Amino acid sequence: MKKLITIVCALCAFCAVSCNVAEQNTYSIIPQPVSVVEKIDTAIVPEVVTIDVTAFPQIAANYISLAAPMLALEQGDRDSYIILRLNKCARMAEGGYSLKVGKNRVVISSNAEAGLWNGLQTLTQLLLQGIDHQVTVNDVPRFGYRGAMLDCGRHFFTVEEVKQFIDLMCVHKLNVFHWHLTEDQGWRIEIKKYPLLTEVGSVRNGSWDTNYEGKEDKWVEGSYGGFYTQDEIREVVKYASERFVTIIPEIEMPGHSVAALTCYPWLGCTGGPYEVRTAWGISKDVMCIGKESTWEFCRDVLEEVCDLFPGPYIHIGGDEAPRLRWESCPDCQALMEKEGFEREAQLQTYLNNKVEEYLATKGKRVIGWDEILEGGISQTACVMSWRGSEGGQKAAAMGNDVIMVDKHYCYFDCYQTESREEEIRCHNRSVPLAKVWTYEPTDNMDEAAAAHVLGLQCNTWTEHISDMDRVYFMNLPRMAALCEIAWTDRALRGTYEQFLDRMVAVAIPLYNAAGWHVAPYYQSDLLPQD
Ligand code: ACM
Ligand code: ZN
Repeated sequence: MKKLITIVCALCAFCAVSCNVAEQNTYSIIPQPVSVVEKIDTAIVPEVVTIDVTAFPQIAANYISLAAPMLALEQGDRDSYIILRLNKCARMAEGGYSLKVGKNRVVISSNAEAGLWNGLQTLTQLLLQGIDHQVTVNDVPRFGYRGAMLDCGRHFFTVEEVKQFIDLMCVHKLNVFHWHLTEDQGWRIEIKKYPLLTEVGSVRNGSWDTNYEGKEDKWVEGSYGGFYTQDEIREVVKYASERFVTIIPEIEMPGHSVAALTCYPWLGCTGGPYEVRTAWGISKDVMCIGKESTWEFCRDVLEEVCDLFPGPYIHIGGDEAPRLRWESCPDCQALMEKEGFEREAQLQTYLNNKVEEYLATKGKRVIGWDEILEGGISQTACVMSWRGSEGGQKAAAMGNDVIMVDKHYCYFDCYQTESREEEIRCHNRSVPLAKVWTYEPTDNMDEAAAAHVLGLQCNTWTEHISDMDRVYFMNLPRMAALCEIAWTDRALRGTYEQFLDRMVAVAIPLYNAAGWHVAPYYQSDLLPQD
């Protein structure tokens, strides 16, 4: 192996070749960077790896705490091994960086702090492999939006666990955390004007929990719940922003809102009574759009949400909202008549438009699941395409921005092989690692439409995931594949086999060092037989 390394390095050094295809590099990096130039020259890593904390103390401290389980790192001064440099004039896309491993030090530079953070994530991988020769990495992301969603409605995850999820994202250079905060099964965010949302709506009577004795989930009697106070939300927002992760909060409307209806039954068409759901699936009971009070509720909730989250987007859900109740609700029907609507779907558009106008006054943009297309959308709404890629393709062709989260490729609550013999219960669909890696979010789009793809994300729905151990298991190693599609241009990714080699060389050791539970299904002997 050493001999091979020497030969390849020599080639790179003498030909000054930019090695931007995976197989030519001896260092493995995920996601594959734009350009990696390896040199024959020796690099010496000191026994104590120090990072300069004088220039960017917060980045350095956060990096040390993130990398602590994987590397032995210490705080240092300007003579440290790792040096961070901001060069505001450098021309590179947001999040880009340059990393130079010289003989006795590593310099990471960027035009913005987010780029320094990303460069450090690459450095973790180099140090884990053992640096012995010099290398220069120049790198920029393909997409500005590289996201991951955690469903904290079906199961509740503590503030510490949410921070762990953000850490998981950081090592993959993901920069948008989509926080699913409200569900039929639990309302998780404190809203001062509507205290019952958390007093009542955050708790359900019994819960299907992950059962480690067997594959099936286990019914556990007693109340189950949890919520985030506004102070805790602020704490998470700060934690994320110090790690260059933007949070998009999701407040579901008009569907997936039974927890809210339970607290305030006037929000529904029938007036209830309702109960915070314990079963998964889709409820017929949704918000009544015909009543002005529903709109006022949404506006008031969003006002507090906007104050808590400084990011540019608010996600308003919009998926899986059956129209059955609206068909027989006098208020909804009266509104349809007044507005001249022919289809109930237009009621949802009516609510969306009001919400969008309101959010615009707060300087925010709206994102909704692709169902929002059904009654028509404004020019400015952003569509999150989940039922397939078609919704995103249609919206992008219309000139709307889109985020691609096709459930056939990006849903990490699904099985990881084609088999149903995996050790735990999952959502009944297969999203194997190879499938994730082959996803191309701009397929079937012309250039103009493709320009509207902001990026993509993976979703972790938690019907069958009730603790962090399983969150890791479901995300790893699929998040490695997802981050590569989000970060690296298709032409630079090499082959799937090369990706697997890099993943085994660096991502799996990194996960193991971090103590994260990794699903074993990437190993060929564990793949299902034909
Ligand atoms: C969804 O998976 N219902 C967005
Ligand atoms: Zn109604």
